[in-house]
Amino acid sequence: MGLVSRRLSWVRFNVFIDSHAHIQLSQFDQDRQAVIDRATLAKVETILVVGFDLETSQAAIRLAETGDQIYATVGIHPHEAKDCTSQTLEDIYQMAQHPKVVALGEMGLDYFRNLSPELVQKEVFEQQLDLAEQLNLPVVIHNREAFADILPILQNRCARTRGVLHCFSGNVEAMQQSIDAGFYIGIGGPVTYTKADDLRLVAQRMPADRFLIETDCPWLAPQFRRGKRNESAYVTAVAEKIAELRQTTAVEIGQVSSQNFRRLFL
Ligand code: NI
Repeated sequence: MGLVSRRLSWVRFNVFIDSHAHIQLSQFDQDRQAVIDRATLAKVETILVVGFDLETSQAAIRLAETGDQIYATVGIHPHEAKDCTSQTLEDIYQMAQHPKVVALGEMGLDYFRNLSPELVQKEVFEQQLDLAEQLNLPVVIHNREAFADILPILQNRCARTRGVLHCFSGNVEAMQQSIDAGFYIGIGGPVTYTKADDLRLVAQRMPADRFLIETDCPWLAPQFRRGKRNESAYVTAVAEKIAELRQTTAVEIGQVSSQNFRRLFL
């Protein structure tokens, strides 16, 4: 009885959502269920498992089928844009019919690593935004050193496209422009990094109804685990840092961002 009621109270007080995780990857093959259980114990109620090519999108769906609190996205990352054919997009469209798929992505532009030519990245990004519009699904956007090109694309589609700029890395002005274009701001582990003063200012000033919290695990572990494998439970460290910046509690940040998550995706 004691054990059962304690478990129920955990469920009732679940407050955090990891809005961007890649726990379908092989880095979690040895202990995936333990990672999910640790998230639950840390009151991380829901995990959005994000695909970035056909294989990882399919794996995200398979994982989402195993738990009520796990959802999936399907999409083609800018790194993979060079291999994206019309058949790939048709496959994404078909996968997006699955009831646990709540968004397309991650998609976007990456001019830092430039693993696909810029023009190809743009074309595949626009094609996926078209798909999202047809499907009436929000999008998860990856940006690295490409905000100047991403912003006008989003502005052009302002009334028709909604979504999140995941792992936001811009300044306060870029944050405001993104929100004006109809987007949410995804805050991850980097907000805890020693040199991330710009990002901390964003976290301080962003409107309460327009941000999400995320891990991007296995990458971008918060400062106390920096360089090691990240996991969904550590989204609480992101909430704690934002709470400190906004002079409120981590629970409050969790509840507000979870509400935002549900408005955007569910
Ligand atoms: Ni990611």
